[in-house]
Amino acid sequence: MSTVLTPILTKFWDHPQSWTMATYEDNEGYQALRAALAKDPADLVAMTKDSGLRGRGGAGFPTGLKWGFLPPPDGGPRYLVVNADESEPGTCKDTPLMMAAPQFLIEGMIITSYAIGCHHAFIYVRGEIVHVYRRLLRAVEEAYASGYLGKDILGSGFDLDITVHAGAGAYICGEETALLDSLEGRRGQPRLKPPFPAVAGLYARPTVVNNVESIASVPPIVLHGADWFADMGTEKSQGFGIFSLSGHVTRPGQYEAPLGITLRELLEMAGGVRDGHRLKFWTPGGSSTPIFTDAHLDVPLDFESVAKEGSMLGTRALQIFDETTSVVHAVSRWTDFYAHESCGKCTPCREGTFWLKQIMTRLENGQGHEGDIEKLDDICDNILGRAFCALGDGATSPVTSAIQYFREEFEQAMHTPWYELFPPERSTLF
Ligand code: NAI
Repeated sequence: MSTVLTPILTKFWDHPQSWTMATYEDNEGYQALRAALAKDPADLVAMTKDSGLRGRGGAGFPTGLKWGFLPPPDGGPRYLVVNADESEPGTCKDTPLMMAAPQFLIEGMIITSYAIGCHHAFIYVRGEIVHVYRRLLRAVEEAYASGYLGKDILGSGFDLDITVHAGAGAYICGEETALLDSLEGRRGQPRLKPPFPAVAGLYARPTVVNNVESIASVPPIVLHGADWFADMGTEKSQGFGIFSLSGHVTRPGQYEAPLGITLRELLEMAGGVRDGHRLKFWTPGGSSTPIFTDAHLDVPLDFESVAKEGSMLGTRALQIFDETTSVVHAVSRWTDFYAHESCGKCTPCREGTFWLKQIMTRLENGQGHEGDIEKLDDICDNILGRAFCALGDGATSPVTSAIQYFREEFEQAMHTPWYELFPPERSTLF
């Protein structure tokens, strides 16, 4: 059994030339591809299934199972599309990964494409992050120059091209079917599912859409084995992941660890909540996941344990807020975000996020109307489970969970602006 432990994907991020092919190859880069090309593609799908790898984009859907959903080859094209449109508030793992070690992603894409029989793969990256776009273009160029992309890769007879596509900066384009519409040149709006992309995706062809970190985790699994990966983490949430700590924490950043680690342990690695302050609330997986409080410091950060406590592991974006933060003010910022980013296709999300924003803005400014808190809960109830995609549900999570844990603060906010309850010298984050 392999004895390699975390860090894996973040291992050489501090190297001054970490993003180059030379550094990657010095760190076992492309050894997994050589091993993969010697295997039967079906064995690679089975290996990914056996490893227990679950989607690192937030939903946690088993990666190998998703690959297995592709219909049998019919002679037409099939695609791999990497979702690099990381936009969930607080989430900052794929962007640093692509900046620091883009070849992990590219090697993972080549192995995945070989496993699923794809000859043209795409990376859809946020258009605003031009530096990442440029880095990816350069990394793809380097991979072509090294013989890892193009025709007859490493003499295997396998051909693959990769296209890097920059989006135009819309949160909805991180939703996989809106992403596919955008990639096809249309306005990005979610499609009805089913059919899932595995059956009818890009140009209506079978398509695997996977997150950056999911695909980057494939080379280490091929290199060290499915059992090595499955031995890390918990029984149903195997392997490791990148946890992003931000906000009121001494050393914000990305911390790679087996799933099932707790916030208490991660805070120890990150130097704790900033000096002289204490934890008030936090998000386990970005703002679309119900918030947690200091009572949840020891919840294992795996899919099942977080769900059992009423939230979601999501993207492991741990935004830390200390006692100087007005929860009403923080939730109001997120509500602004969802109202702005709602694509408008479905009524519950378009209208609901608009009304949530109206009420949160009133409360934030101490101008609440009688029954506003109940109205917030009622609007959320009418969005939840009724919106076309996950954006609507996500918009309700911070509101309902904040009312659940901090109702008193919402009641105070009815008549007192946030900046009087939390004077600026106390409140530093917003
Ligand atoms: P989902 O659970 O509907 O689907 C997850 C994946 O499994 C998709 O790729 C889907 O095609 C596939 N799938 C599910 N059932 C399938 C079936 N029967 N056959 C074939 N494929 C199937 O979740 P969704 O809507 O894709 O993602 C929601 C999550 O996204 C949230 O939990 C949130 O954490 C995360 N998110 C991440 C963001 C980021 O920046 N990384 C931004 C916003 C949300």
